[in-house]
Amino acid sequence: MQLRSMFAENYRSLRKIRMDLAGVNLFIGENGVGKSNLYRALQLVQAAVRGTLAYEIAAEGGMASALWSGPRREEKNFRIKLEVEVLDEERAVTFRYRVEAGLRPPIDAAGFAFEPQVKAEELSIETGSRPVTMMRRAGPGIMVRGERGRMEEYPEKAMTSETAIALLGDAGHYPEVGAFRRMVDGWRFFHGFRTDRDSPLRRPCLAVTSPLLDQDGSNMAAVFATLVHTRGVTVELDRAIASAFGGAKLSVPEPGEYAEFGLVFPDFPRRVFQPRELSDGQIRFLGLAAALMSYRQPPLIALNEPESSLHPDMLPPLADMIAEAARSSQIWIVTHSEQLASAVEERCGTRPKRVIRQDGATWIEGMRLTGVMDDGDD
Ligand SMILES: Nc1ncnc2c1ncn2[C@@H]1O[C@H](COP(=O)(O)OP(=O)(O)OP(=O)(O)O)[C@@H](O)[C@H]1O
Ligand SMILES: [Mg+2]
Repeated sequence: MQLRSMFAENYRSLRKIRMDLAGVNLFIGENGVGKSNLYRALQLVQAAVRGTLAYEIAAEGGMASALWSGPRREEKNFRIKLEVEVLDEERAVTFRYRVEAGLRPPIDAAGFAFEPQVKAEELSIETGSRPVTMMRRAGPGIMVRGERGRMEEYPEKAMTSETAIALLGDAGHYPEVGAFRRMVDGWRFFHGFRTDRDSPLRRPCLAVTSPLLDQDGSNMAAVFATLVHTRGVTVELDRAIASAFGGAKLSVPEPGEYAEFGLVFPDFPRRVFQPRELSDGQIRFLGLAAALMSYRQPPLIALNEPESSLHPDMLPPLADMIAEAARSSQIWIVTHSEQLASAVEERCGTRPKRVIRQDGATWIEGMRLTGVMDDGDD
C-alpha cells in the first residue's frame, strides 16, 4: 500500500493544503509551523476509518479549537475536510476517501451541541479508468454500491458521531470498504515514548507473540521476544543495537509468563542491564528499534520527532533503521534535526520537505497548489 497524497482543509493551521507523498517523507521546520498538525491530520483519517473521529476531535478540545481560526471568507460549509489517496498495489486499485466534520446547526436534535459532527464522506476507487463512487454519505444518509453494482441506500442511518466507512466496514458486505479500512487501520504513529521510571518500556509485559509495537511501547519486550524466539533472525536489530550502543547486545530470555529483555555492554560482559537501569536515550532508541523492526511491517510508520533525547551519535544508526524499514513500509518523519534529515536523505534519497507558515497557514516551501514540488522531488 502507498499513501499517494493527502489533503487537509480548516484543520488548525492547515488552511488548505494538498501534497503528494513519496515512499519516505521527511518534514523539517521551526516550532509551531504545523508539522504535528499534518501528522495529526493523518491520524484523524485513521480515526475516521476506526469510527472514532468525533471522539478524537472532541478529545483535542472540540471543533472550536480544531477549526482553522485565521481570517476566512464567509463560507457556507465551514468544516474540517480531510482526504487521502491510497494505492493498493496488490489489487492495482487507487482508493480516494474524503471526510468532512463540522459543527451542529443551531436547530437540530440529532447530536450534542458541541460535539464534532461527521457531515459528509465519500469513498471512490480507480482501476485505471475513471473513478467509481463506492460510498457516499451526506448527513445521516448513506448510499453504497451493492453486489449488483448499483448505488443503494444503506438501511441504517449514521449518527453524527459515526463514520459511514466504519459502519460499512463492520457490516462486512463491502469488500472494497473493508480493504481500504484494513490498510489505513494498519498505519502506526509514534510520538515520544515515555522514559520516566514507570515508563511502559521499562516494564516486563505479558508474553504474547507481538508482531507490532503498541503506540505507547508497552509490549516492547514481547516484540523483541517475538523477533528472537519466533522469527529467530535478528541480524538488523543486532546490528542497530551494536552500532548505537558501542557493541552492546540485546539479551532476551525465553519468555515464561512475562517477556523481558536486557542489554549486555562490552565493558560489563557478565552483567545484563535491565530496562529500568538504562538511560532515557537508550530506552527511547530501543523503542524506535521495536517500532521500525517489528516482526510484521506496518504499511505506514509515522514518527514525530524521533530524535528527541538522542545524542547526535545515535542519529546515523537511527537513520539506518529508518532506511531498513523503508524497504517494506512507507515512512513519515517529523524532525528538528538537520543531521537526521540529511542522514535519511543520504540513505533513502528523499529530500526533506521544509514546512513553513504563510499568512498563518501551514505550507511546504517550493510546493505548488497542486501539491507537486517545484524542483521535482525524488
Ligand atoms: N484552530 C487553529 N487555527 C489556526 N492555527 C492553529 C489552530 N490550532 C493551532 N494552531 C496553530 O498550530 C501551531 C502548532 O502547530 P504544530 O503543533 O503542528 O507545530 P509543529 O510544527 O509541530 O511545532 P513543534 O516543532 O514545536 O512541535 C501553533 O502555532 C498554533 O498557533
Ligand atoms: Mg510538533
